[in-house]
Amino acid sequence: MKKKFLSILFAVAMTASMLSGCGNSNTTSKVEATTEALSPTAKAFAGKKVGVCIYQFDDNFMTLFRTELMHYLVDDIGFREENVIIVDGANDQKVQMNQIENFILDGVDVLIVNPVNSSDAPEITDKVNAAGIPLVYINREPSKAEEDRWATDNMKVSYVGCDGRQSGSLQGEMIADLGLDAVDFNKNGKVDYIMIEGDPENIDSKNRTQYSIKAIETAGIKVNQLYDKVGNWDQAEAKTLVEKALKKHGKNVEVVFCNNDSMALGALEAITEQKRVVGEDIFLVGVDGLPEALQGVLEGTITGTVFNDHITQAHTAADVAAQYLQGAEVERYIGCDYVKVTKENAQSVLDSVQ
Ligand code: BGC
Repeated sequence: MKKKFLSILFAVAMTASMLSGCGNSNTTSKVEATTEALSPTAKAFAGKKVGVCIYQFDDNFMTLFRTELMHYLVDDIGFREENVIIVDGANDQKVQMNQIENFILDGVDVLIVNPVNSSDAPEITDKVNAAGIPLVYINREPSKAEEDRWATDNMKVSYVGCDGRQSGSLQGEMIADLGLDAVDFNKNGKVDYIMIEGDPENIDSKNRTQYSIKAIETAGIKVNQLYDKVGNWDQAEAKTLVEKALKKHGKNVEVVFCNNDSMALGALEAITEQKRVVGEDIFLVGVDGLPEALQGVLEGTITGTVFNDHITQAHTAADVAAQYLQGAEVERYIGCDYVKVTKENAQSVLDSVQ
């Protein structure tokens, strides 16, 4: 059934999405179209090949993203399943570069790339562009200089993703909204926090780290950083780091900021093992809205998270790829809004992703 609204998807929904950022993932499902209008388009995509490079399969958020991407490319846009090839970069840029070269040799029609290192985007872009293949970057944003040249040099290259500054700010706001009195257990007049960062190469990581704290300060609340370490987006690494921080700083740790939910789940393990209780003597925030984290927010074991809408991002990336194949003019940067998640709306976000 879903394949039947294809033609309008490009005529209407993508235009809306281009104009308003990622928007609402239900946009296309409300659109109706006739079978006659659709069959040529569906046929066109059935013969096309898409290569998808994921920086690392062993990443909870990117697993949700790629699963949705595959589903939407096949079930909604109409690519044949065997023509959508998704590969694991194993967190190694050399491995990913080889995969990209192989996709070019195989003659894929369009590439969707979640780079291992966004700083290697210029090399990726040059290779793919020289082969005349449209390219859609996802999740890890290349630099502004790199994005600027896509337009200047009229390259068929776009980026689909969210702005890490927004997710950081929303994390900080959730803590500021609690008020200093509720958070300041040691009564030193400040929010004493530890920060567990994602991959330092990733702009999201830097922005979430910086903007979460900035939001607290903007609310007029003083902060005190006790500990700041890189957990590489990883649950086990974060658990070890938070354990160390809690052993070192004890009850002075009032808030644990994690750049993503996987690390927040690791932090929660350490917090529980140290006999601390979220909401009672410590607060914990993450980003992504992984189902386990949303469940934690509902149960009160995680103070809050920020929904990183993988569904809308996956759909938009696929739509952009399809638009390039149709020869359309496509925006170079397509943003998407994050959503603050607390106990009040965690259930509705959970319902929307399940
Ligand atoms: C997500 C992380 C994920 C990373 C991968 C971020 O947007 O929040 O969970 O590990 O993307 O690049």
